[in-house]
Amino acid sequence: MKDIITLGIESSCDETSVAVVRNGREVLSNIINSQISIHERFGGVVPEIASRNHVEAISDVTEKALKEAKIAYSDIDHIACTYGPGLVGALLVGVAYAKGLSYAIQKPLVATNHIEGHIAANYITHEELEPPFLCLVISGGHTHLVYIKDYTKFEILGKTRDDAIGEAFDKVARVIGLGYPGGPKVDKLAKEGKACIELPKTHIDGLDFSFSGIKTAIINLHHKNPDINKADLCASFEKYVTDMLIENALKSAEQIGVKTIALAGGVSANSYIRQNFIDLENKGYKIYYPEPILCTDNAAMIASAGYYRFINGEQADLTLNAVPNLKIE
Ligand code: KG4
Ligand code: ZN
Repeated sequence: MKDIITLGIESSCDETSVAVVRNGREVLSNIINSQISIHERFGGVVPEIASRNHVEAISDVTEKALKEAKIAYSDIDHIACTYGPGLVGALLVGVAYAKGLSYAIQKPLVATNHIEGHIAANYITHEELEPPFLCLVISGGHTHLVYIKDYTKFEILGKTRDDAIGEAFDKVARVIGLGYPGGPKVDKLAKEGKACIELPKTHIDGLDFSFSGIKTAIINLHHKNPDINKADLCASFEKYVTDMLIENALKSAEQIGVKTIALAGGVSANSYIRQNFIDLENKGYKIYYPEPILCTDNAAMIASAGYYRFINGEQADLTLNAVPNLKIE
């Protein structure tokens, strides 16, 4: 069978990324231009600044991706670009660029869901992984328990009712003065602490999550006692959210009868969460997670998800628009 070369384009938040992927799984290049240092001083992503920086970066990032992959525009079989969910202005940069390129080089365009991209990051790291499996998508914008029935068939089993888990990590870090983005900083500091601080339980029926209560509890604890041990606070917070993730992941795995659980999204880079999921292998589960560079936003994962849509016969036309609150189904 002829190889299929996908050009992936990602611009949903603060990373401008373009990648070249062969047959959905083999990364030939994955250029990521992160804006973290630009947004750091504001303590979070400023949408307007993100859009401007995508506009400035996207052509160069594309050129670099082609050069590193040692391919020409004519070698591309199709383009896959993120059209949601994400920041509307940021998404529009990638979507407009992808449409223009698709028209100019006369190659098909595939509209790609960012959450499907995070899930597909696992296909790149693990060549043996195939649906069906359960995936916990935990990132700065999403907390979803997804049943992957097939490469393009998904069912949401549970999701957050309020904040995304990554938002909670970032907020906790900000309150205790660790800076942005907080996830990796909480991860590091927690290693020096003990999960000894009692935190109030939030009870949610079914398979949904809630992170606003724990976020507020941590803020209150820190305000009441500014000298509280920050490492212990981080360790206690991590244990609390990990217990919640594991409980619902196990409940849903049992419900759908699968023994394969994959992690995805920026928060899946968290070492404590990973270790606790890996420990489930002792109970007969097979655990997958992407390599660190594929956990946070990148275009290789978008190319992979787009490839499976493409071979399923799906294509977008030039009326494609950004869909900031796009769901996965
Ligand atoms: O997937 P991602 O790059 O963007 C979204 O699609 O949202 O995820 C970014 C999130 C941020 O909230 C960041 O703090 C968190 O992932 N993150 C982590 C770690 N590395 C990144 N959270 C906990 N531990 C980490 N090691
Ligand atoms: Zn993401």
